[in-house]
Amino acid sequence: MNNPKLKEQVDSRRTFAIISHPDAGKTTITEQLLLFGGAIRQAGTVKGKKTGNFAKSDWMEIEKQRGISVTSSVMQFDYEGKRVNILDTPGHEDFSEDTYRTLMAVDSAVMVIDSAKGIEAQTKKLFQVVKRRGIPIFTFINKLDRDGREPLDLLEELEELLDIESYPMNWPIGMGKGLEGLYDIHHQRIEFYRPEEYGDQRFAALTDGELPADHPLTKNSIYQDVLGEVELVQEAGDQFDLEKIARGDQTPVFFGSALTNFGVQTFLETFVTIAPKPHAHKTEDGEEVSPYEEEFSGFVFKIQANMNPNHRDRIAFVRICSGTFERGMDVQLNRTDKKMKLSNVTQFMADARENIQEAVAGDIIGIYDTGNYQIGDTLYEGKLKVAYEELPSFTPELFMKVTAKNVMKQKSFHKGIYQLVQEGAIQLYKTYLTDEYIIGAVGQLQFEVFQYRMQNEYNSEVVMTPMGSKIARWIDPEDLDERMSSSRNILAKDRFDQPLFLFENQFAMRWFADKYPNVELKSLM
Ligand code: G4P
Repeated sequence: MNNPKLKEQVDSRRTFAIISHPDAGKTTITEQLLLFGGAIRQAGTVKGKKTGNFAKSDWMEIEKQRGISVTSSVMQFDYEGKRVNILDTPGHEDFSEDTYRTLMAVDSAVMVIDSAKGIEAQTKKLFQVVKRRGIPIFTFINKLDRDGREPLDLLEELEELLDIESYPMNWPIGMGKGLEGLYDIHHQRIEFYRPEEYGDQRFAALTDGELPADHPLTKNSIYQDVLGEVELVQEAGDQFDLEKIARGDQTPVFFGSALTNFGVQTFLETFVTIAPKPHAHKTEDGEEVSPYEEEFSGFVFKIQANMNPNHRDRIAFVRICSGTFERGMDVQLNRTDKKMKLSNVTQFMADARENIQEAVAGDIIGIYDTGNYQIGDTLYEGKLKVAYEELPSFTPELFMKVTAKNVMKQKSFHKGIYQLVQEGAIQLYKTYLTDEYIIGAVGQLQFEVFQYRMQNEYNSEVVMTPMGSKIARWIDPEDLDERMSSSRNILAKDRFDQPLFLFENQFAMRWFADKYPNVELKSLM
């Protein structure tokens, strides 16, 4: 515990994920952050726009050499004495349980919202996971260079839909073509959108909340309106409260335009200052391991299998919870009690030089895996002997019936399914009476990966019959009466033989709840 160097290193880590709905601007803002961090040299590097392909980036080289897709899984850079780790949360058609699990490995989350659209479905889903875990959340309202909704309206929606206090760090002065700048409440300054119109100064300091009376912007009626709005939110709204932020009860809200690189640096500077450093992690026994503990420990939150059959390797992503990782170190794997040597390990310095940096609590490492690791595994060094609490399971929303194409190959079919389920790639259920296999996922991609891996790793071709989206709710086995099953639900059991219903829709679930008011319907995380 008494290692000041370790403490200093750990305290400099800022590990977070960006959550958003597709098209809100996650990629654009990530690129801007990487540019500020010097991790890339030009925009368009993270994602080849238009074509949807990855541009030839520094990471592509790493990928080619290693034959595995590590592109943008973890992006690391240094900024103002802080080491920033951004964990990608795959969205769009890549949405999967991995997206949720990634949120278990961060110390905070940044929510990017399109100012014209407000809170959208995917943001809400991810937000709820973040909120339930009490993870601090920062908000960036994007696309100010376009006409969007009124700031007050957006903040109100945030508070109502997400049930969280909001605190505006800055306030837009106009929007779209009329965007003049940001009234920076936190720093008591104005940030100009077109500094060239204001003597080439990007910032102007405020005195008692106002610009000097002779400043040209004071003639603009929008500025006068903003003064009124800011006064209103400061009087009637919540006060900035770091403790509430740390508990995830208040979100600091920043406005900006990622595309025109406006407000992003202000966001980054403030974020690295107030975002939390690595936190202590709970063990299975309810104890906590401090990040400053000198012995190394961490847990596996994601396993990325290679989709290229020439490269069978996988990467196990480990969040370091305590101590220092050193290449070649010996650690213990809690599940098997096996000793593992961590020699083939990748880190994610985005400048591709792959300079061996020390990784400490808060950082993420990727271990080359030939099938030794599972999601949720704990690794620890020496006498620490720790097992971190189980990662939550997430209620699947999409379901498929699955059978082996070749009935003669049942053995490999079962082996494959059980291993992939263990690994957390997919969830498995059986119909209650007839034991038919049903697989569940939170995103379509999980089915595709499942089918592909069954064939390529277990030589088992599967037939999948879509059942569409369902609402899965667990019940207490004691409440179960098989007559509760109807044409609007499917009675099933999970892999621990716990009963659940798959309801056709909200209506079917409400009908059930009305009919059996004493039966509690439970969801997973
Ligand atoms: P995502 O990762 O969240 O899905 O969003 P991404 O950054 O790819 O941005 C989605 C679209 O929104 C892109 O346009 C991007 O250029 C645009 N965008 C992002 N930030 C801003 C902003 O601050 N202002 C404006 N006006 N647009 C923004 P696209 O047409 O899909 O791609 P592109 O071909 O224009 O790059």
